[in-house]
Amino acid sequence: MNKTPALTPQFINMTRTMSNNGTGTAGIQQELTASLLKPVATLSPKFFYDALGSRLFEAITLLNEYYPTRTEAAIFEAHNAHIAQAVLDAGIQNSCLIDLGAGNCAKAAALIPYLKPNQYVPVDISIDFLREAASQVQASFPSLSVVGVGMDFSSALNLPDGVQSHDRVFFYPGSSVGNFTPPDALRFLQQIASPAQGNACGLLLGIDLVKDAAVLEAAYDDAPGVTAAFNKNVLLNVNEQLGADFDLSQWRHVALFNLQASRIEMHLQAVADTTVHWPGHERAFKAGERIHTENSYKYTLEAMTALLKEAGFRRVEHWTDAQGWFGVFWASK
Ligand code: AVJ
Repeated sequence: MNKTPALTPQFINMTRTMSNNGTGTAGIQQELTASLLKPVATLSPKFFYDALGSRLFEAITLLNEYYPTRTEAAIFEAHNAHIAQAVLDAGIQNSCLIDLGAGNCAKAAALIPYLKPNQYVPVDISIDFLREAASQVQASFPSLSVVGVGMDFSSALNLPDGVQSHDRVFFYPGSSVGNFTPPDALRFLQQIASPAQGNACGLLLGIDLVKDAAVLEAAYDDAPGVTAAFNKNVLLNVNEQLGADFDLSQWRHVALFNLQASRIEMHLQAVADTTVHWPGHERAFKAGERIHTENSYKYTLEAMTALLKEAGFRRVEHWTDAQGWFGVFWASK
């Protein structure tokens, strides 16, 4: 028998419906229709993270080929005490740890004993997944104030009342900022550096670094095919959200490193001519035509330092692994 946890975290749902990832509304359907009807069809990577997609992403992090998660974890493990000290040195005490794209909350759970925040705010678009994870964090840290927020922060970062307004430590690990184009990443980082986030505010960021293309491409096209399943699953989510009829057998996974743009690109490529229908619309695809599903930008330590400074952070420090594959940054004002 399951026992009800003694402590239930507070939960604020800012998404527009109670469905799996807060979608299914007219706005989402318009967004999907517009992006599927563009000359080169695109789908935002936020649509990866339905209930199955969130679990497929967890499986990706366990892959031998997918080095970012374990490399980042090793950097934190080696430098947790230094990182906590850097936060204190920035004048941040009784902090509010805001975990952007918290997912299973595992990374924050490892950091909390060092950072000792006053409040923990996991934020994610995948609401049901987040509820479960936030409850587990609350059970592990009974005296911590836990406020879960269901929200799509990809366009604007407006946190609800109820989130501590001072001493905010934004936690954006896993190279998720790599999903933004550099100009969008700048705008996003500017929102975190903005006075609206209160005084004594900083950002703890994890970013994947530029490296050999073969290593990068293997990380996004693994032998067991987990990333391929993750990529194709976006079509199942679109079928659900839009009432579309994508047939997954007609699409294959493509991952490539675009050196010029310094990004991994993921696409879904039609294996034969195929037409997709949804209420009021259809889209024909020629064999070989692609839907662009993700960009994952890779930075150098220098380029990310410059971007953080341009965003308005005055002090920027970083830690990396021996191979220089992944960087953890602390940026403060
Ligand atoms: C969660 C955006 C950081 O870009 O590496 C993993 C997502 N896509 N494999 C990444 C992802 C394919 C991941 N981020």
